[in-house]
Amino acid sequence: MKITFFSAKPYDKQFFDQSNDSFGFQYEYFETHLGPHIVNAVEHADAVCVFVNDKVSREVISVLASRKVRIIALRCAGFNNVDLQAAREYGMRVCRVPAYSPEAVAEYTVAMLLTLIRKTHKAYNRVREQNFSLNGLLGSNIHGRTIGLIGTGKIGKVFCGIMRGFGARVLAYDLVPDPQLQAAGVIYTSLEELLPQSDILSLHCPLTKDNYHLIDKGTLSKMKPGVILINTSRGGLVCTADIIQALKDRQVGALGIDVYEQEENLFFRDLSGSIIDDDQIQRLMSFPNVLITAHQAFFTEEAMSQIAQVTLENIRDLTNGIEPKDSSAILV
Ligand code: NAI
Repeated sequence: MKITFFSAKPYDKQFFDQSNDSFGFQYEYFETHLGPHIVNAVEHADAVCVFVNDKVSREVISVLASRKVRIIALRCAGFNNVDLQAAREYGMRVCRVPAYSPEAVAEYTVAMLLTLIRKTHKAYNRVREQNFSLNGLLGSNIHGRTIGLIGTGKIGKVFCGIMRGFGARVLAYDLVPDPQLQAAGVIYTSLEELLPQSDILSLHCPLTKDNYHLIDKGTLSKMKPGVILINTSRGGLVCTADIIQALKDRQVGALGIDVYEQEENLFFRDLSGSIIDDDQIQRLMSFPNVLITAHQAFFTEEAMSQIAQVTLENIRDLTNGIEPKDSSAILV
């Protein structure tokens, strides 16, 4: 049983190698992302294992099918980068890791929020330069503020709990409200009501065809002036051109993003010696009130161990004709 990995970094190899003791799979690692340029290199593999920026298009799936690959295993939760319909038509099975430490992403969202609201990233650099002045470092409390959440699934739910611990008022918008959160004091509203009331807005819904550019000129204009916006979900939820304009207009007071629309050309790589052609990320990086990280919210020891374990269990179960215990792990 052979698995070919794409977008494999040293840390992926570390955790997948460690977890393989009880499975005994044969591995092949490619550092490049999966796409039409490399798919023909897949040989004698039963499964391919992909990550968030691998492009598993119809074209790629047709080649994988012709090479007798039977399983596409995502080592992540989101699956907007896989053409599920094409996978179905080609008789492929597609699985994912539906939940791996939602705490990792929720806690990271809090880290981004605290950094922006208390300017600790600026203080860190300043003190290293022996500048101990506080000018320009004035922050504000989270306590007593209104937090608006879009998406209250596994990650949103943990984030709600943490924000309530801070003493914030939590408003939420989700297609399916969670009665447990309602009972705990989270107030569900429409998006129309949530936007103008929120001092801080955090995105925790998946990217789908229906919510692409959920945050655009129209929704930004309905937000409270000076809103702090955090996106640790998916880049395509936010229209980059519109958020840049909203930052220039001071409509958005601070922006924290761990995900970016065009991240597949940038993230998970060291480009420190390269010229970056993407003018939008350069503009975003030039704002003093924007914090950008390269899709690292999930990146904890706990989450990486779980991802490797569940991905390998999914592949083992599908190979043996057993449906995995968690049915939401199976997409096709
Ligand atoms: P989940 O499936 O448990 O929850 C998603 C929630 O969003 C559900 O309650 C669903 O009803 C709601 N939802 C769906 N479409 C919506 C819409 N248009 N408007 C409002 N709510 C909507 O997912 P989970 O585990 O909480 O993850 C959320 C997202 O976080 C993932 O889809 C993924 O994109 C992102 N993520 C980011 C990571 C990172 O490292 N930055 C790591 C893991 C996940």
